[in-house]
Amino acid sequence: MSPDDRLLGVRPFRVADDGRTLHLLDQRALPTEERWLELREIEPLAQAIETLAVRGAPAIACVAALGLAIAARGWGDDPIALRRQVSAALDRLAHTRPTAVNLFVALRELADALASLPADADAGQIRARLREVADQHVARELASCLAMAEHGAPLLPDAGGVLTHCNTGALATAGVGTALGVIRRAHALGKRIRVFADETRPVLQGARLTAWELHRDGIPVEVIADNMAGFLMARGEVQAAIVGADRIAANGDVANKIGTYTVAVLCHHHRIPFYVAAPWTTIDPAIAAGAAIPIEERDHLEIHVHGGRRMTPLGVGARNPAFDVTPAALITGYVTERGVFDAEGLRRAIAGGAAR
Ligand code: MRU
Repeated sequence: MSPDDRLLGVRPFRVADDGRTLHLLDQRALPTEERWLELREIEPLAQAIETLAVRGAPAIACVAALGLAIAARGWGDDPIALRRQVSAALDRLAHTRPTAVNLFVALRELADALASLPADADAGQIRARLREVADQHVARELASCLAMAEHGAPLLPDAGGVLTHCNTGALATAGVGTALGVIRRAHALGKRIRVFADETRPVLQGARLTAWELHRDGIPVEVIADNMAGFLMARGEVQAAIVGADRIAANGDVANKIGTYTVAVLCHHHRIPFYVAAPWTTIDPAIAAGAAIPIEERDHLEIHVHGGRRMTPLGVGARNPAFDVTPAALITGYVTERGVFDAEGLRRAIAGGAAR
């Protein structure tokens, strides 16, 4: 594997050469099996997003955009019917996962592209434009990850432990990753970093996916149960923490995978820098503060059943918020493709209309 391939990491989706099929690495089967789904229609695509076959804010957006452009190939040559089908598909995809704003950015780009085509555009022109917009979205997300990796790598220690939560790697993006991209780049620069991957209950994106990605690419990683982070911090084994984001409010509050807030509080207590890496598409200037970010509540079976076995007594309830909100005051720095900001700087950039 060349250094460039190692920085890019695995590519979790690709479009077949004839443009009619979306190949998707099924992340539910990792790390034991590398299984690829073949998607051509909207409903299986929507279900793949809902059931976490693909997950991670930027990857969801890329796959939704590409999948819609591909599905549109099968919707006939009547431009009026085609526009109607595209609108229905946009609506279905908007109801898959509510928290990550990137999905809504990509869907808005497709809707705007459709609206700005001349009224007499034929079906071929509509399809070509949708595919063009989807490709542009994917290319932009990949470029953002490469830029974030460059901006963020100098923040990490030359040697020591770096804790991360959930999976923010190539699997969660169009390649490279956000927080994990920063770690990849730091490793490529020769920094002797040991990654602590929180297992990330209940779906185990850290244990299954982050560990798989980093091990595959030769970056030292150890998995820890989520409740071990404080102990390792108290022992001086963690020099920095870096995570991704699903939505950043205008005041800098960050929604990310459940458990992120706990890590931030622990870092604050132990005076360990806590960084968030996210592309500008993850910023939602329309949401003033984190409390207004919609938080997905997932199926309670994810809590009750583990490894195919019931872990809780029948009749006992559970809670399963998939994300939490970390207040801006706990965040040392935001790594974006436009550079690194503190909370005040980010707020100013957002208020200055620099969003998207
Ligand atoms: O539920 P998931 O697996 O989609 O949650 C993913 C996360 O919380 C990531 O940290 C976030 O999407 C950033 S990924 C680059």
